[in-house]
Amino acid sequence: MTRKIAILGATGSIGKSTLDLVERNPDAFEVTAVTAATNVEALADIVRRTGAKLAVVADEARYSQLAELLVGTTCRVAAGEDALLEAAAGEAELVIAAIVGCAGLKPVMAAVDSGKTVALANKEALVTAGALMTDAAASSGATILPVDSEHNAIFQCLAGNRGDDVSRIILTASGGPFRVASAEIIGAATPAQAVAHPNWSMGAKISVDSATMMNKGLELIEAHYLFKLPSQRIDILVHPQSVVHSMVEFVDGSVLAQLGTADMRIPIAYALAWPERIATPAQRLDLATIARLDFEAPDLERFPALRLAREALEAGGAAPIVLNAANEGAVASFLAGHIRFPDIVRLVQEALSSAAYDAPHSIGDVLEIDRVTRDRTKAMMTASCP
Ligand SMILES: NC(=O)c1ccc[n+]([C@@H]2O[C@H](COP(=O)([O-])OP(=O)(O)OC[C@H]3O[C@@H](n4cnc5c(N)ncnc54)[C@H](OP(=O)(O)O)[C@@H]3O)[C@@H](O)[C@H]2O)c1
Repeated sequence: MTRKIAILGATGSIGKSTLDLVERNPDAFEVTAVTAATNVEALADIVRRTGAKLAVVADEARYSQLAELLVGTTCRVAAGEDALLEAAAGEAELVIAAIVGCAGLKPVMAAVDSGKTVALANKEALVTAGALMTDAAASSGATILPVDSEHNAIFQCLAGNRGDDVSRIILTASGGPFRVASAEIIGAATPAQAVAHPNWSMGAKISVDSATMMNKGLELIEAHYLFKLPSQRIDILVHPQSVVHSMVEFVDGSVLAQLGTADMRIPIAYALAWPERIATPAQRLDLATIARLDFEAPDLERFPALRLAREALEAGGAAPIVLNAANEGAVASFLAGHIRFPDIVRLVQEALSSAAYDAPHSIGDVLEIDRVTRDRTKAMMTASCP
């Protein structure tokens, strides 16, 4: 049976890996809608390759350029936020949520509210609105399938087991490009060094998050909402080879792990075909060549983002939104060359320690806290990083 899918963030790293799998399985999937922020050339190319019926560019100023590029196709072209929501809530039964950042929140919620199966890569949506989203999924009947390799690994390990039998989950972390770097080297890191991940090829924002290890902090919060476990039952373990993608420990002492090469097409394929599996061209795991797997406790002194994220999760309320918004603003400024690498986590810490917001009751509340925090972070940057 052909599955109708919408790909939100089709031009990004996850979007491209998804398209690769879809094109290898032309009978299994029909792409109904694709979206991008600004990259209309790549989006038009995707439409021509997949025959998508709806192409949405978030930036309304790019509408006519996209329309021009798609003259002669039957694809409907649209732009702006309402069109993004339409792509998420339209005819697709499976929505690949691969927009980066809190910008993906409303489209993800539109898909969840429409009762879709959502293959969720956009971790920031769950970090900022986890309770609202899981409640919405419970009432609409939506299914959220984790695409993040760690959460996908845990999801696979949980299959066939009772949630009550889980004692803890263990998120593995590569440690990023600065795992063994001194505090001095980390302090002087450039954007080029920060995005050079040793194992994974990813978009710029998540690559910087991996370098600060904020990515693992966001994943801790994501895991809390996906698997309904408190912070104390979610451990983080550095595993530089990125072979064990995460583990589940059960009450009898058994530990199940999911292993594989570092290729996002493996977890994406699992979400695309769930509850079945499809073949992927990912390189097979050769453990004899890898020969050893190392594990170590994370260093919270050199990577304080992990501590901040755990504190934000345990504080609850608006804290994860503040953590995420300050981080997104700071990472964008670092990538633009406006602040130094250590300023990212310092700004997040300052934003958290000076924040006083009520817990959000709606997506509107989440977006307002996000907006105010970004403005405050910008002001803090101007004051401290002229
Ligand atoms: N990459 C990975 O291996 C990986 C692994 C696990 C989880 N994730 C998560 O997956 C998500 C996507 O990551 P990525 O690495 O694929 O990011 P990416 O390569 O930067 O791609 C982001 C996608 O989102 C679109 N986009 C950006 N800003 C937008 C906005 N304001 N409105 C609408 N669309 C917007 C981009 O369009 P343009 O191309 O037009 O800018 C692009 O299609 C992130 O949440 C990340 O944490 C990624």
